Amino acid sequence: MYHLLFRTVFARMDPEHAHHIGIAVIRLVGEVPGLRSLVHRVLAGRRVRQVRVFGRDVPGYLGVAAGFDKNARAVRGLVMLGFSHVEVGTVTAQPQPGNERPRLRRIMESRALVNRMGFNNRGAAAAGRRLARLRSSRSGRGLVVGANIGKTKVVPLAEAVGDYRASAREVAPWVDYVVVNVSSPNTPGLRDLQSVEHLRPVLVAVREAAEEAAGRSVPVLVKIAPDLADEDVDAVADLVGEVGLAGVVAVNTTIDHDFGSGGLSGPPLLSRGLEVVRRLRARLGPDPVIIGVGGISSPDDGRAYLAAGATLLQAYTAFIYEGPAWAGRFNRALAS
Ligand code: FNR
Repeated sequence: MYHLLFRTVFARMDPEHAHHIGIAVIRLVGEVPGLRSLVHRVLAGRRVRQVRVFGRDVPGYLGVAAGFDKNARAVRGLVMLGFSHVEVGTVTAQPQPGNERPRLRRIMESRALVNRMGFNNRGAAAAGRRLARLRSSRSGRGLVVGANIGKTKVVPLAEAVGDYRASAREVAPWVDYVVVNVSSPNTPGLRDLQSVEHLRPVLVAVREAAEEAAGRSVPVLVKIAPDLADEDVDAVADLVGEVGLAGVVAVNTTIDHDFGSGGLSGPPLLSRGLEVVRRLRARLGPDPVIIGVGGISSPDDGRAYLAAGATLLQAYTAFIYEGPAWAGRFNRALAS
């Protein structure tokens, strides 16, 4: 059904427009309690394997990767569809429009996407307000939510620490974990922050600001690019240990492709994503959390990430191509 809808309607539409329609529908249905539980019963499937992470029982492995719900508007709706957790954002300290359109493209033959969105978002304070509202109810507090933070485009790299700190303060009180995004290819210079000497002060500042704002210790993770050299992956892993971070989200989109500017996501990312997760797990030891993301489009892909050492899984691109029933199918396959 979704495949037919996708081929006949969404695939002929501008991809970003289709995305906004999708989010709006998920959000609307997710806001109506009776309808929400009905859809959850039909699509999400009841049998999921609970995973203990961040001191919470996470209802299944598969969550929504950052970028889908940038402004924290559709968390309830996404959980309704069977996702175990939602990583909202990327948000930046200042609201910003992102790059000019078109900035999202489908590569149909490989079921991939190329995006150069550039962190279009309403700002960390607005996301904080939405999350605060979500957390004001018992059912909202029951959801597992992370916040992904990035650097405001107009803020120079030399002032990145303060910008990340400001975002962390706004969102940390309302989330189960915070992700420091230094790996998106669409903010000039951002990925230079992945080098250890630049990354260390950012991570330390975010950890401190998050804890101070939330009044509790908040797990902080760092999200890295698949394009890092192996030695740089090892260096980030060592820094995670040194700074006392909770873990790593691996991987973001890649710039290693022939489709012009922007980051490529979907199946072409799978093999490098698995390699990076395997490498991180070997270097980090058993305890830190690794969220495996990149090219997961089937339960077997998910199992491969878990075998490589991932604690939780996320996806974005496959959700676009597979539709609203995909997370439920995925959960049922992993529970059996
Ligand atoms: C992304 N991704 C992303 N990541 C991030 O940390 N912050 C962001 O704002 C975004 N935005 C974004 C927009 C779009 C349109 C796409 C397709 C992706 C990257 C995403 O979270 C994920 O790391 C990659 O897409 C790899 O996973 P998939 O898509 O192969 O499952």
